[in-house]
Amino acid sequence: MSNIYSNTEQNILKAAEIIKSGGLVAFPTETVYGLGANVYDSQAVSKIFAAKQRPKFDPLISHIADVDVLRNYAATDERVFALAKRFWPGPLTFVLNRIEENPSIDLACSGLRTLTVRMPNHHIALNLIKASGVPIVAPSANKYQSISPTTAQHVADSLGENVDMILDGGACKVGVESTIIDLTGKNAVLLRAGGTAKEDIEEFLGEKILINEGNPDLPTAPGQLLRHYAPRNILRINVTQPDDDEYFIGFGNIDGDINLSKSGNLTEAAANLFAFLRIADENAAEGKIAIAPVPYDGLGLAINDRIRRASYKK
Ligand code: TXA
Ligand code: MG
Repeated sequence: MSNIYSNTEQNILKAAEIIKSGGLVAFPTETVYGLGANVYDSQAVSKIFAAKQRPKFDPLISHIADVDVLRNYAATDERVFALAKRFWPGPLTFVLNRIEENPSIDLACSGLRTLTVRMPNHHIALNLIKASGVPIVAPSANKYQSISPTTAQHVADSLGENVDMILDGGACKVGVESTIIDLTGKNAVLLRAGGTAKEDIEEFLGEKILINEGNPDLPTAPGQLLRHYAPRNILRINVTQPDDDEYFIGFGNIDGDINLSKSGNLTEAAANLFAFLRIADENAAEGKIAIAPVPYDGLGLAINDRIRRASYKK
């Protein structure tokens, strides 16, 4: 049975209900189809990584339908609003400093202090975001390292039953991902070339945009540091027998003070990870945290990547 749905008002409302109740909806944008979830639902965001079989957590782009959402979400200034006025809705994504402190979006931000936002130029996407009432995070709706999807059928071929609903909007007009610019510093920096020409942005800003020499498909430095996502306390990993003075984060049948997932579900564990490290930090009376082994398959690779960096000694 196909989970592709045509573009009707009823189907968009149905899709919004799925987003609100923690499911995944693939939807068309002008660039590529996105695999969407409620940014404030870390379990749902975690399912995105599982469905894509991404070996690590990349920060995700929040898709919004109203510029005013930015005010409580990320740090803005005149330049941000001017760029938004000129280029939104459209294939231009801004990296901004994060204001929204709700920890449920930690996973979507991948632990960074920045937030990445765009307003897609597609009526189905915009209607879906409005009906859902929350920003929708969405990477391209395809398996890791495969070609980005520009039709509903591409999504179905790649993700199949891992997506609850695919809204069909025909072929994407732009067909390459959005241009990403980092606006956290004085000068705009291009992180990924995409659907908005660099020259158009330069002409509008009246300045040259710097180009990040790193790999544009990777987030800027923080995620690549050896020590990152780190709690204040010492963290010991792959522990089966914690010491008496350690606050212990369990997994599966190795139980602890808290448990990432009693049933050993890696999607649930990934969704809990950042929040549980915060809880451990608050409750580790002796300043020591230990965490049980987590297998490396599926989202386990990403979880291990995070806890390894979090445990790295200065
Ligand atoms: O056109 C698009 O942007 C599509 C549609 C669905 O909107 N989305 C998309 O998302 O391409 P994704 O997740 O496949 O690519 C987003 C890229 C990733 O390479 C990610 O590492 C980077 O943006 N990124 C996201 N947040 C970042 C941040 N705070 N700092 C640096 N890079 C970031
Ligand atoms: Mg992608």
